[in-house]
Amino acid sequence: MPLFNVYPLYNVTPVSAEGVYVYDQNNIKYLDLYGGHAVISIGHGHPKYVEAITNQVAKLGFYSNAIQNPLQKQLADKIEILSGCKDYELFLCSSGAEANENALKLASFKTQKSRVIAFKNGFHGRTSAAVAVTDNKNIIAPINAQQKVTILDLNDIEAVKTELEKGDVCAVIVEFIQGVGGLDQATADFFEQLDLLCKSNNTLFIADEVQSGYGRSGKFFAFQYYKVTPDIISIAKGMGNGFPIGGILIHPHIEAKFGMLGTTFGGNHLACAAGLSVLNVIEEEKLMDNVKTISDYFIKIAKTIPQVKNIKGRGLMLGLEFDFEVSDLRKKLIYEYHIFTGGAANKKLLRILPPLNVKKEHIDQFFEALIAALEE
Ligand SMILES: Cc1ncc(COP(=O)(O)O)c(C=O)c1O
Repeated sequence: MPLFNVYPLYNVTPVSAEGVYVYDQNNIKYLDLYGGHAVISIGHGHPKYVEAITNQVAKLGFYSNAIQNPLQKQLADKIEILSGCKDYELFLCSSGAEANENALKLASFKTQKSRVIAFKNGFHGRTSAAVAVTDNKNIIAPINAQQKVTILDLNDIEAVKTELEKGDVCAVIVEFIQGVGGLDQATADFFEQLDLLCKSNNTLFIADEVQSGYGRSGKFFAFQYYKVTPDIISIAKGMGNGFPIGGILIHPHIEAKFGMLGTTFGGNHLACAAGLSVLNVIEEEKLMDNVKTISDYFIKIAKTIPQVKNIKGRGLMLGLEFDFEVSDLRKKLIYEYHIFTGGAANKKLLRILPPLNVKKEHIDQFFEALIAALEE
């Protein structure tokens, strides 16, 4: 049976991986500065992660959400400690889109309203409401387009105010660092005004931290660079280091009711074991400190390369902007220099999303290759 052909593929077949390296079937070693789309947080095959998953699957891999699962509470407590987000409650699911889907649904339940404000170049996933609030007409089917969504420009606070004052908006959803769109960030003033406007208009403020969360920005959440208090925070990617797990942190002013949200797979024993081991490693190996150190190092070198016209993003969610489209450069980096990097909706942007334990020597390897590839 052929596979449904929805992904343009690079001709590389990884078969194993360790740390920041991925190996193909011919044992060619690739430096992974893409982390499988910002998913690999603590590095491929981290021994503590492998041990935790192996032990858990041997004991109990899965049972439904109809029984007691103390691992969920352990995971919630650990997220609270590492993120410093006190008092939120956790609902677990299995992906980023599902996290946003549940966030939007909760906002609508809570406010009994249904319109959503989202932003230009934003990406929130491919399911029903999550794709409807994504700014990409090509991936919105007619069934999704029925949702009531208004897409505004980042930083246009007056437009947000006008829309919120109409009284029918259940949620504003925003990425504090845009991922797929190309690493744009609104100003601190915009984010902080947005938070206040939501609070005064009975609109929930959803921080989509699916990509920027879990230490990738240098803080646990990217919104923590600002004075804001989101009502709901969605998380996924780095949470499981490759194991499918997502979730939302919910402010306690949103009251839970039985049946309001639910899932078969979300929060299963194996996912929680993976998630807990990721947080333990982030803490033990001080990976958020490493993010800041390596980010500064990366930016310092990037500034010396004349072809780099702009450096975007924060932490280890970085982009190098050129004055040409980077698809050929990415191919060269993969096939000739054996380095994975990412692209973005902004075709002139090379995205760098390495595991959070990447070291200076890997950044040196990348820049040596980049300079050589640019000279070719
Ligand atoms: C900010 C953001 N939100 C949501 C998603 C969707 O996550 P998933 O692909 O796990 O459904 C993504 C995926 O790239 C993302 O970057």
